[in-house]
This record gives sequence, C-alpha cells and structure tokens, in this order.
Amino acid sequence: MGIVISGASVWTPAHRVTNEELVESYNAWADKYNAEHDGEIASGKLQPKPPSSVEFIEKASGIKSRYAYVKDGILDVDRMRPRIPRRRDEDLSHQAEMSLAAARPALAAARKDASEIDMVIVSCAYTERAYPALAIEVQNALGIRGFGFDMLVACSAATFAMQRAYDALAAGSANGVLVINPELTSPQINYCDRDSHFIFGDVATAVVMEREETATAPHRYRVLGTKAQTQYSNNIRSNFGYLARVEGGDPFDELRLFHQNGRSVFKEVCPLAAAHLESHVQSLGLDVPSIKRWWLHQANINMNNLIVRKLLGRDATRSEAPTVLDTYANTASAGSLIAFAQCHEDLASGDYGVICSFGAGYSIGSLVLQKI
Ligand SMILES: CC(C)(COP(=O)(O)OP(=O)(O)OC[C@H]1O[C@@H](n2cnc3c(N)ncnc32)[C@H](O)[C@@H]1OP(=O)(O)O)[C@@H](O)C(=O)NCCC(=O)NCCS
Repeated sequence: MGIVISGASVWTPAHRVTNEELVESYNAWADKYNAEHDGEIASGKLQPKPPSSVEFIEKASGIKSRYAYVKDGILDVDRMRPRIPRRRDEDLSHQAEMSLAAARPALAAARKDASEIDMVIVSCAYTERAYPALAIEVQNALGIRGFGFDMLVACSAATFAMQRAYDALAAGSANGVLVINPELTSPQINYCDRDSHFIFGDVATAVVMEREETATAPHRYRVLGTKAQTQYSNNIRSNFGYLARVEGGDPFDELRLFHQNGRSVFKEVCPLAAAHLESHVQSLGLDVPSIKRWWLHQANINMNNLIVRKLLGRDATRSEAPTVLDTYANTASAGSLIAFAQCHEDLASGDYGVICSFGAGYSIGSLVLQKI
C-alpha cells in the first residue's frame, strides 16, 4: 500500500526585510546602546556592541532577505521586535491565519476538499499558545471532521509530522492528512544580537498526504521511507515557555529567545545529517547518485554545500539541491518544504528525491520520495 504526498504549498508573507535594512537598524541600535552605556564600557564593566555587516551575513549564511508576518517594529531602534497585536479569543489566531493561507492551496493542489481530510497536524518550532491546539482551530475553520493536534520539533517539525502522517495512513487511523507548518519565528529573534539577528524569517507551508488509491493530483510522490533521529544538544536553544511568569528574573531576557553556538552546530550537524541521509537512502536499496533532487533544510548555504559535498563528493547544481534561503532565510521546519513546493513539478515519473531537515534537538528527519 503506497502513501503519497499529493499537494504542497507555501504562503509567503507580504513584507520583505533585506539584510541592508536589518543591519542599518541593528547598527543604529548598537550605537545608541554604546552611547547610553559609555561609562560602563569605558570602565570595562560592559562590552560595546560591535557592528553587524551585510557582507558578513551573506558570506556566512547565504541569506539576502527574509519575510516577516509583521514588519512594523522590527526595524524600530526603540523596539527591535515586531508589533503583533494580541487577538481576542473569538478571533482567528495569528498562526491559524498563516496555516489557512498555506493549507487552502495545498488542498487545491491535491484536488481534495475538507470532507476527504480527517487528520490535521500543525507542526512548527513555536506555537503561540498551549491550547486549544492550533490544528483544531484550523480543522474547525476548514470544516474538517476527524481530529487534529500540534507538534513541536524545532527545525524538524515538518518532517517529523509527515512521518506521523505516513504512520497514520499506513495504520489506517487516517485517510487524508493535512500537515501545516506556520513558522512565525520573528517574535523569537533577538534583533539586538548581531550573531543571530539575520538568521530567521516567517512563512507557512502545507502538504496533503493520502493513500495512493485515493490520490488524483497531477504531481504525486510515493513515500518510499521515513527516518527520524534525535540526539540531545544544548547548542540551539530557546527557553521561552509557560514558566516565564513564575521563575523570577526578567521574563524577556535574551536566553528566552533563540540562541545558539553556531560554530558547534555547524561542525556537529553536518556530518550527522550526511550520514543520516546516506544510510536512509541505502536502507531503501538506493544509492546517493540515483537521487535526482535534495530538498534540504534551509539554515545556511555553507552547511548545505558541505552536506552535499560529503554525499556526492562534489558540489550540487541548483537543480539537484534547490536553495530558497537566499530569499526566505532560515524558516525553521518549513525550509525543505518551501524548496519541495517550489521545485518539484519538473521531475519525471520514476525520479527519486529526498526531503530532509536538521536542527535544534538535535533533530534530523527525512523522507525518500519517488514521483509517480
Ligand atoms: C551562525 C553562523 C552563520 C556564523 O558564522 P561563523 O562563520 O561561524 O561566524 P562566527 O560566529 O564564528 O563569527 C566569525 C566572526 O564574525 C563576527 N560576526 C558575527 N556576526 C557578525 C555580523 N552579523 N556581522 C559582522 N560580523 C559578525 C564574529 O564576531 C567573529 O569575529 P571574530 O573572528 O573577530 O571573533 C555559522 O556558525 C552557522 O551557519 N552555523 C550553523 C548554525 C545555523 O545555521 N543554525 C540555525 C539553526 S538550525
């Protein structure tokens, strides 16, 4: 019994933020900080905030711009975070709105209506509340019967959710699954930290998965196998959580926000991801050269280049490993799905491709696909 991905889509926020804009606002903020703390800096009690640079960002990450769900506030040196107004309980929540914007075109691509979906998974790096689940709100808005739940697996939220969808379809506990990744990362970015202010962007992706016999979409991908792996690491961390109210100290301190030991991540995750991919492909009786397309996680171009070189023994072409992080930046779990949604229609029947995520946890997830 085959399980397929029958529809995929991306919702891109309307607001673009360039490296130039981010660097200008960060540098203005840093100048202001340094002027306001000149005494402590002169006495050695505080370190001055060093300037950021467009050239560094592009060279170190490959990122040129990103999208923001709300741009207002991000570039304001007196705020340095988006201004996202709280919504009333009666109104559609922010991430449900993003989810619907991605889910509707994914359903259309799969030629499915709500009556053919019975499981909704909203899976991403952060959810805006603990409950009720965003997935149930989305399920309700789309008029889907069945059930929904939320999952958090940082950068591997999308691939791990697709593995859950695969397992449910294989077991018969679901007949049509909508997996949605509303990655609203901007509220968790420390725009006052030059090491990480440029890394993330907002986006939402969605896929429809079903059994092969019900699928009628023109582009269908049989899932030949799924593989998930985790290995505990503190090198990428966000401590924001519901204990912020009771722990004492500053509920907005910078350790509540995304922070990482980027060098260690680079060194540790690249070999893990390459070994994971090679063993996954080989476990299915395939070899690396037979894979036509690698829809890789989109965190950093140098990481992707290194992983691909370890796998192929050479650089990949843009067709073999499409890059979207130049325009979207790191969108947590959505990156490999943006690449998949935007670069799959040209594949021929029988071609093999691999979706792969890697990131905080550490977590690595992959799906090996064959176009029908
Ligand atoms: C984050 C990352 C891009 C940083 O690149 P890097 O080459 O490791 O850079 P470093 O942090 O070592 O910094 C190199 C130098 O540039 C400086 N620098 C850092 N940020 C800068 C900025 N925005 N502008 C200018 N210079 C900067 C550093 O201070 C350092 O200076 P020094 O050599 O004088 O100490 C890189 O480590 C990386 O890609 N890691 C992978 C992790 C990742 O992408 N995680 C996302 C979640 S999955």
